[in-house]
Amino acid sequence: MSLVLVTGAAGRIGTVLRGGLPERGWALRSLDVVPLPDVRPGEEQVVADAGDLVAMVDATEGASAVVHLAGISGESTWPAIRSTNIESTFCALEAARLTGVSRVVLASSNHATGYTPRPDGGLLREVDAPPRPDTYYGVSKVAMEALGSLYVDRYGLDVVCLRIGSAFAEPTTTRQLATWLSPADTVSLVDAALTAPSPGFSVIWGVSANTRNWWDLTAARALGYEPQDDAEVYAEALIEALGTPDPADPVHARVGGEYTLAEFDAENFQA
Ligand SMILES: NC(=O)c1ccc[n+]([C@@H]2O[C@H](COP(=O)([O-])OP(=O)(O)OC[C@H]3O[C@@H](n4cnc5c(N)ncnc54)[C@H](O)[C@@H]3O)[C@@H](O)[C@H]2O)c1
Repeated sequence: MSLVLVTGAAGRIGTVLRGGLPERGWALRSLDVVPLPDVRPGEEQVVADAGDLVAMVDATEGASAVVHLAGISGESTWPAIRSTNIESTFCALEAARLTGVSRVVLASSNHATGYTPRPDGGLLREVDAPPRPDTYYGVSKVAMEALGSLYVDRYGLDVVCLRIGSAFAEPTTTRQLATWLSPADTVSLVDAALTAPSPGFSVIWGVSANTRNWWDLTAARALGYEPQDDAEVYAEALIEALGTPDPADPVHARVGGEYTLAEFDAENFQA
């Protein structure tokens, strides 16, 4: 079994991966700033701050790969986003470099390119969605992708950035009928990112095989991701409860959805 360090392991996605990666042949070293609610047989737990380089070097030693999820997973104040998200991404990559770990999977986000409009027709490829962050949070994911690119070009690491849509147990908004990433597909996506031969620097969308997808999964499939789930099974109930989505509404017409609206202005996120 290959050992993978998962940071942010106590969170939503970390919990899903801790359930699914061992079945795919991965042994877990699970790091979070808070203790795990349960430690599973064979799992190593590390309670540490992912923004502490010394602790991250210790935690990365002996691993074959790193999955970096730790951080603030939504909009916050600039000091909090800067010091937690950007610093911890640097530490994850720098610890990998210092310990000779060549594969790092980074939890980026659709919010790295949130102001990108929906194309007139067809699917949106990652290459047609350059950095266009919708929030300070989105800026931290742009920085994440930039740091990943640096560590590939300068140090020869393989870094796969996952522009995750909405990774929840099930979709709860009509936007998520297009952006949902199911728990089972989350495991498949991360496993593909961990095992794809020599991906170099890759940026791929992270969504399920949703009928309403408008983000192109060609690049993700090329790395071996085979999504199985489709949010459409929740469509009837969500539309009945919340109304038919209006394609012209920015929530549906921009990659970042709600995060592009005025309620995410800086006034609402002051230190
Ligand atoms: N869930 C989604 O829909 C989604 C979408 C896009 C991107 N992402 C990204 O995926 C990652 C995981 O998301 P999630 O939904 O599981 O978030 P979450 O908030 O449930 O989990 C984040 C975890 O990181 C830990 N953490 C925070 N700061 C830390 C630090 N300094 N050191 C160590 N651990 C720290 C927290 O304790 C928490 O357990 C995040 O980076 C998030 O931005 C998630």
